[in-house]
Amino acid sequence: MARINDSYLKLKAGYLFPEIGRRVGEFTKANPDAQVIRLGIGDVTQPLAPAVLKAFHDAIDDLASTDRFAGYGPEQGYGWLSELIIEKSYKPLGVELKTSEMFISDGSKCDCANILDIFAMDNVVAIGDPVYPVYNDTNVMVGRTGEADDKGHYQGIVYMPFTEANNFVPELPQEKVDLIYLCFPNNPTGTVATKDELKKWVDYAIANDAIILFDAAYEAFITTPGIPHSIYEIEGAKQCAIEFRSFSKTAGFTGVRCGLVVVPEELMGTTADGETYSLNKLWNRRTSTKFNGASYPVQRAAAAVYSDEGWAQVKATIDYYMDNARIIREGLQSAGISCYGGVDSPYIWLKTPEGLSSWDFFDKLLQECHVVGTPGSGFGPAGEGFFRLSAFGDKENVTEAVKRIKEKWGK
Ligand code: MLT
Repeated sequence: MARINDSYLKLKAGYLFPEIGRRVGEFTKANPDAQVIRLGIGDVTQPLAPAVLKAFHDAIDDLASTDRFAGYGPEQGYGWLSELIIEKSYKPLGVELKTSEMFISDGSKCDCANILDIFAMDNVVAIGDPVYPVYNDTNVMVGRTGEADDKGHYQGIVYMPFTEANNFVPELPQEKVDLIYLCFPNNPTGTVATKDELKKWVDYAIANDAIILFDAAYEAFITTPGIPHSIYEIEGAKQCAIEFRSFSKTAGFTGVRCGLVVVPEELMGTTADGETYSLNKLWNRRTSTKFNGASYPVQRAAAAVYSDEGWAQVKATIDYYMDNARIIREGLQSAGISCYGGVDSPYIWLKTPEGLSSWDFFDKLLQECHVVGTPGSGFGPAGEGFFRLSAFGDKENVTEAVKRIKEKWGK
């Protein structure tokens, strides 16, 4: 019989969102008439922008034509898409990139997981707590950790608490680490880091020969001027950071699937012999072998996001979600519930009322208000006592959910 990868057995719980789905499924089965409002997983609800849809349709029509048919594309993505992203999304930030430094993919979740392929197992990894579960779980899966302790922390990982006390920007690790996951605007807390705060991380990474894995999936939701959209806005970051971006939340591509990874050419790692080696070359090699590129119509649809018309439409949807975030934030505050985020991010991180545990609040909110959110402890033990609400719902539903919460918990 084939041996399995035993590391999977170390994983404490099922992946968070299917677990929530299971509980909600049980509730709706038992309560078929309940009008359940889902503000749990950060899944978008509004349709694709018309300009994006048109590009998508046109690209499908290309596939019906012998002249315009597209077969395998470049594994790294089409140059015309990378050029557009660099021009429209990075240049305005003062960040110069080459197309050879950008890898278009089928989404950030896979990229955040796949990046581990190019790093040795004995790297020490630093991960936030609470955190997007993919960073943690994929390190367990590849075998980089020991067992989990009672709190749910895996042996061998350096955890960086995101707390009210540190304003949800973690302290630098005391020990030397090699790989550091940072996500800003942060999932799940919805909070952001300033340039000065990110500069400390870049300085630490350079001083310790560490690599920052910077997840910028929510950068399009930043509204406060001066908050960095990219790690490369920080001097020195090209020597020490890989950046992940996504069209999922920015342009409603959660089902369409498209993301990107930036691996600067000057970014180096070391071989077992202590020689320096280009991470860009390694990621390119990995991509060419294990990936055949995001599909042609998807990349054409992604390119349309950057047309003037496309961006105006996409931006209007982002504004719609951010208005939902405002409704949730203000509603919670008026009910006397402390909360964070929701200004530069579509997530609101609230302190559970009455000192309830995160899962107790989840159950109460579901049973009594018929509203679904995400328990903070599902993102890590430091998330205990917190709860995440997503602003990606339909406005009417979001307003109704806030009304129900206020009726239940408002003073
Ligand atoms: C979330 O709700 O945290 C995200 O939707 C998950 C993801 O992007 O994979």
